[in-house]
Amino acid sequence: DIGGLDDQLREVREAVEDPLVNPEKFDAVGVEPPSGVLLHGPPGTGKTMLAKAVANQTDASFIKMAGSELVRKFIGEGAKLVRDLFEVARDHEPAIIFIDEIDAVAAKRTDSKTSGDAEVQRTMMQLLSEMDGFDERGDIRIIAATNRFDMLDSAILRPGRFDRLIEVPNPNPDARERILEIHAGEMNVADSVDFSDLAADTAEFSGAQLASLATEAGMFAIRDDR
Ligand SMILES: Nc1ncnc2c1ncn2[C@@H]1O[C@H](COP(=O)(O)OP(=O)(O)OP(=O)(O)O)[C@@H](O)[C@H]1O
Ligand SMILES: [Mg+2]
Repeated sequence: DIGGLDDQLREVREAVEDPLVNPEKFDAVGVEPPSGVLLHGPPGTGKTMLAKAVANQTDASFIKMAGSELVRKFIGEGAKLVRDLFEVARDHEPAIIFIDEIDAVAAKRTDSKTSGDAEVQRTMMQLLSEMDGFDERGDIRIIAATNRFDMLDSAILRPGRFDRLIEVPNPNPDARERILEIHAGEMNVADSVDFSDLAADTAEFSGAQLASLATEAGMFAIRDDR
């Protein structure tokens, strides 16, 4: 039930799932598949949804974690969580690790001297080092998502780490129409409702805003006893 992200979904599967399911293709050509895929784009465009869709379609183990969950209070705790995360993945190969809202741990390093920032940076260093340990990493692929691409430390985007960037933009008119249809799918919609007109009237809307538009319309109907 994702509207308009066919190319992105295909790209994610190509980069993440193919290497796990058909490693021989990559052996035959002699290239290493991308290790990490980064979904980026404005809020509410379906990044988290997309990763969950990949989870539903794959036979690999899927481990999801939010970047904010890796931010811990005590020194070394975040880094240990990252190590544990990769260890669980290694125990369940082939596996996909999904780190949502990675900006929480991968923001540009600043000169700020607060211990909290230092701890977040330590967690990020651990993440980078796990991603670098390619041989030990084995059959593990990593997907991350962020709506703060501008904030990410360039170290995380280096080749060999999150080197496959997939942009998830706000939907175009066709995608908006599709998203409205999806979210109104269970609704009792009057015959006069034209989704392509609505799509034309909702320029700049994100998928999340379109979903909420459908819900709001339903709320109005209830309020007016329609
Ligand atoms: N392409 C889409 N098709 C259908 N529904 C969508 C789409 N994009 C967003 N939505 C709706 O918006 C909600 C939020 O989407 P999602 O959580 O995937 O956004 P996100 O890109 O991860 O946002 P953020 O950057 O804020 O985390 C979804 O649960 C869904 O209802
Ligand atoms: Mg999200």
